[in-house]
Amino acid sequence: MASKLLLSQLRNITRPTHHRLINPNFIFPLKNQTFIHSRPYSDAPQPPPVGSKPPPTKADSAPTHKKISSSLNQAELAKFSAIAETWWDAEGPFKPLHVMNPTRLAFIRSTLCRHFGKDPYSAKPFEGLKFVDVGCGGGILSEPLARMGATVTGIDAVEKNINIAQLHADLDPGTSSIEYLCTTAEKLVEEQRKFDAVLALEVIEHVAEPAEFCKSLSALTVSGGANVISTINRSMRAYATAIVVAEYLLHWLPKGTHEWSSFLTPEELVLILQRASISVQEMAGFVYNPLTGKWSLSDDISVNFIAYGTKNTE
Ligand SMILES: C[S@@+](CC[C@H](N)C(=O)[O-])C[C@H]1O[C@@H](n2cnc3c(N)ncnc32)[C@H](O)[C@@H]1O
Repeated sequence: MASKLLLSQLRNITRPTHHRLINPNFIFPLKNQTFIHSRPYSDAPQPPPVGSKPPPTKADSAPTHKKISSSLNQAELAKFSAIAETWWDAEGPFKPLHVMNPTRLAFIRSTLCRHFGKDPYSAKPFEGLKFVDVGCGGGILSEPLARMGATVTGIDAVEKNINIAQLHADLDPGTSSIEYLCTTAEKLVEEQRKFDAVLALEVIEHVAEPAEFCKSLSALTVSGGANVISTINRSMRAYATAIVVAEYLLHWLPKGTHEWSSFLTPEELVLILQRASISVQEMAGFVYNPLTGKWSLSDDISVNFIAYGTKNTE
């Protein structure tokens, strides 16, 4: 029943061909519903394993600063480190991201221009806004955002990625102002950095704790700011296309790039963002046309999807 409700709400926020800004209150009824039973991303307290130490007392846990848990998954980072030199090879392992880029930028331009009241037809619609691109890799997304006028900070946990990103950005005066840092979202939170928009594209499926990661994304966002997250649905169709076809048959990506069990369904993403004070306003799917070799936005969120949300005002 509850998942039916969520599915119908998701249908309302998917974005086929027209812009559709939905009522920001529409997912509030989801609060406190416990309809997802297996939650690898859960931030709910877990029972202690058998034979584990007794829970710490108050005295054990002093000082009282809340420890932000690390989003780093070393096995995932090693995969990206191994292919870091290929970020800007348009025919290399990151070809799918290069080919998808215009489509994801179309979503970002339209949702964020509406959010910030900017003209989507202007050459630099994001002038005056501070964006952070979390898990920026070689800067495939950071660079066009900077060209659209945003003041961009790109962060990645892999140093080689940041070095490549910096080298590439320095080639063009339109991108050389990007601030690239080898760091994590949680470390930026500790430094009390804030941004008008926080973007994390194709990253959440590679982090250790998605729910904690979303809390860090939220903490980096100014009150009333915007968030854009894209990832892959944990559906059978995604297993067949994003893993079997893309990795094993077409060799678009190195085998083992994606772990199906690390994917989140759109319902799960909406929920963990909601728990992190981010309300998803709009969602779209990306679909690939094998005849044209191009991606386009669609209301089919069964494989690749992107979500735009707003940080709740404090
Ligand atoms: C699939 S790539 C996406 C790159 C870029 N966002 C894009 O879409 O063009 C994932 C990136 O996230 C980075 N990454 C993974 N876990 C991370 C974490 N916990 N903190 C920061 N970066 C992370 C990886 O090093 C890698 O560069």
